[in-house]
Amino acid sequence: MSSAVDLGFEKLLEFVRDARGFDYTGYRRPTLMRRFEKRMQAVGSPDWDAYHQYLESHPDEFVELFNVILINVTGFFRDEETWTVVATEVIPKLLEEHESIRVWSAGCASGEEPYTISMLFAEALGERDYKKRVKIYATDVDEGALAEAREAVYSSRQLADVPEALRERYFLPANDGFAFRGDLRRTVIFGRNDLHKDPPISRVDLLVSRNTLMYFGSDLQERILANYYFALNRGGFLVVGKAEALQKGRQLFKPYNLKRRIFQRDGAAEPAFHVPSRPPKGIEEPGADLGDAAFEHAPVAQLVIDPDNRVVAVNQVARALFDLKLRDIGRPLQDLELSYRPVDIRSLIDETRRNLRSSVAKDIAWESPKGTARWFDVSVTPLAGTGERLAGVSVSFVDATIHRALERQLEHARRELQTAYEELQSTVEELETTNEELQSTNEELETTNEELQSTNEELETMNEELQSTNEELETMNDELRERTDETLRANWFLTSVLSSIQQAVVVVDDELRVIGWSSQATDLFGLRDDEAEGQHLLNIDVGLPVAVLREPVRRTLAGVDDAPVAVEGHNRRGQPVHYTVAFAPLAGRDPERPAGVILLLTAERTD
Ligand SMILES: C[S@@+](CC[C@H](N)C(=O)[O-])C[C@H]1O[C@@H](n2cnc3c(N)ncnc32)[C@H](O)[C@@H]1O
Repeated sequence: MSSAVDLGFEKLLEFVRDARGFDYTGYRRPTLMRRFEKRMQAVGSPDWDAYHQYLESHPDEFVELFNVILINVTGFFRDEETWTVVATEVIPKLLEEHESIRVWSAGCASGEEPYTISMLFAEALGERDYKKRVKIYATDVDEGALAEAREAVYSSRQLADVPEALRERYFLPANDGFAFRGDLRRTVIFGRNDLHKDPPISRVDLLVSRNTLMYFGSDLQERILANYYFALNRGGFLVVGKAEALQKGRQLFKPYNLKRRIFQRDGAAEPAFHVPSRPPKGIEEPGADLGDAAFEHAPVAQLVIDPDNRVVAVNQVARALFDLKLRDIGRPLQDLELSYRPVDIRSLIDETRRNLRSSVAKDIAWESPKGTARWFDVSVTPLAGTGERLAGVSVSFVDATIHRALERQLEHARRELQTAYEELQSTVEELETTNEELQSTNEELETTNEELQSTNEELETMNEELQSTNEELETMNDELRERTDETLRANWFLTSVLSSIQQAVVVVDDELRVIGWSSQATDLFGLRDDEAEGQHLLNIDVGLPVAVLREPVRRTLAGVDDAPVAVEGHNRRGQPVHYTVAFAPLAGRDPERPAGVILLLTAERTD
């Protein structure tokens, strides 16, 4: 799994870079792989691919991973002997040569290193002068570590290597430990800086970069050391960690104390970085360093070629872009791949020299080693020397990729707009047709609406009528209910009168049909009132010889007062009975004419 070039691992690094902007592709592989493997073990991912997927589905894991990669091991006065040399030799030298001093602690972790430097300067200068003359910049890529550094609170264990006297002078008890004194704390300026891609702090007299370079692969180390070179003032000191040999920076920095890994910016390396128009050595113009720095950090890739077609300067962007090294400076241009790819620079240079005018080749396509396509506008500009002589030419590669991409996007957008416009037009036509259809539908609907309205009005009228009919019906209903009650009462009254009379009572109308039959009559003859009522009196078949009743009934109907009639018969059990039947007229509407006859029957057993 940990082989030198492992494509799976490289892919994982690219994923981490693209997902979180942390570019570890330039870090030393074996260490980096070990740290990834540590996390993979913790989360149970068997290989790079599985861990890649784990990171995708568990974004919190990025924090854990970065904590492991950027191990922030540090301490106050770490490697004491180094700090002794800094305190006794480097700082006094700097104070002697400079009024104000700028210090950069690169990869400062949780702040112990910059606060160590702060204490040493304060000891050397006294607090008042220290605050006036010294400024310390402390940077790291790890925001978490920077937050701790800014808080500046340390436990007594963390302060174990701070000499007693310094601890008492510069620390105050705080909640959970000791805080570096606030007034001195303000002389240290913390900030995030990724040594990999951010520009360095400039005009520095002392650059402390300990145990940080060792993270990086040799190419990246070389680039960072070139940045340190530009960051340092002439004669400035660079202090690195005791395991950092600075092999790649030997031509830029000369050892001051090799054992303690203290170096100085080397003047001998300077010419390689100078643009040819610079005056010869000794006639320094003010701001020459600034010119170098501007060239070095220009956002456009630039090279300077001398009249013998040798490369005399390559800036940071050009080095990174075309994989050029500082050792390429001084080589003949034709030895570099760049001389013919992405464009034949030599013919452009010849043209410039011939015409003494800039030559430009536009929209030159180029594919980076990582396979990314880019486009450049390459221009070659003549650089005037002393007198008529041409001192050289500068070659610039202006990245037109975004411009080209924008043009393509613009063209794409224009075409989309055209399509959208055509679609819009056809939509408008469709809308017009739909509109006409809608208009006719609307008219139909309006007619229907009117019809519905008139129907509605009719219905409303009917409703009102029905309502009044309903009210009338309700009144009638009430009346009927009253009548029914009255009838029921009258009926009940009649029934109770009839059943209260001892004799059996039979009532017939003027046609001799039975209209009343008392309960005593039922008892006597064994015929229920509902069976008797409605029958003709003379047709009733009971134990009474009804034929003898015909005449007295007719006479009573005719208004004659008739005497009771005695008749022999039998009762419902067939026993012989002597009946006495009395007749009374039933009063009707007409006082002259009875409406029927009431027959009162008295029965006496004769056996
Ligand atoms: C081992 S610590 C060294 C701390 C301190 N300089 C010392 O020697 O005590 C290394 C530090 O380098 C930081 N580092 C790693 N990669 C970095 C990068 N690309 N840019 C800036 N700092 C980085 C880490 O976050 C960590 O805080």
